[in-house]
Amino acid sequence: MTTSSHATHGQEALDLLAPQPGERILVLGCGDGVLTERLLKQGVEVVGVDTVKERVTAAQERGVDARVMDAYKMTFDREFDAVFSIGLLHWMLDPQTVLAGVKRALKPGGRFIAEFGGHGNTAAICTALIAALQFRGISTHRRYPWYFPTPEEYRHVLATVGFKVEHIALVPSPKTLPPGMERWLSHFAEPFLHGLDEDLRYAIIDNALLTLGYSLRDSYDHWTADYVYLRVSAHL
Ligand code: BEZ
Repeated sequence: MTTSSHATHGQEALDLLAPQPGERILVLGCGDGVLTERLLKQGVEVVGVDTVKERVTAAQERGVDARVMDAYKMTFDREFDAVFSIGLLHWMLDPQTVLAGVKRALKPGGRFIAEFGGHGNTAAICTALIAALQFRGISTHRRYPWYFPTPEEYRHVLATVGFKVEHIALVPSPKTLPPGMERWLSHFAEPFLHGLDEDLRYAIIDNALLTLGYSLRDSYDHWTADYVYLRVSAHL
């Protein structure tokens, strides 16, 4: 489970959550707890889960009741007024199973608010990486790591699990990358490159950078990533 920086976005989703003092809220993918701490300060009883032990420890150090738990295997039962998730669900390729766990965790009438990569997220970056792999005859089967649904697709999945949608929309959110695209790729392109020799990995990254320079780099050598979020609010 990998999450994006919680410090830099999430306020609009928090506004949708509209947490009330005394509510019990589950944060799915709590990361290092920065955003979760904001809920605590609003008088909310928060439980955070994440699969990465170091992040859970960091969240605990901020005073969050954080636990190591996989979003596919949540054990909560009708405990929460709301489930809140930022920057995680595009890593979960089986949304139905995750949402079934979210539903189990919620009290009757409970709400689910999430923001994650939506349709078109980092489309230029994905296409450049896929093209560089295909050019070398390397199959992308089992390499593409993300689930970036359209609002229509996700609305349907939510409905099949039993949620009613209040709000669902794509939010184009271009993000400047001060350290540049190479640094971004060295972190996020890993699933596309696993098992390949080092020389081949470098060649693929170089190709992708060359292609992406045309669309995502400006004349000052500043890079922007083509982020698109899906923001959703639903209830049982
Ligand atoms: C993220 O988890 O931050 C992320 C994943 C895929 C593309 C862009 C961002």
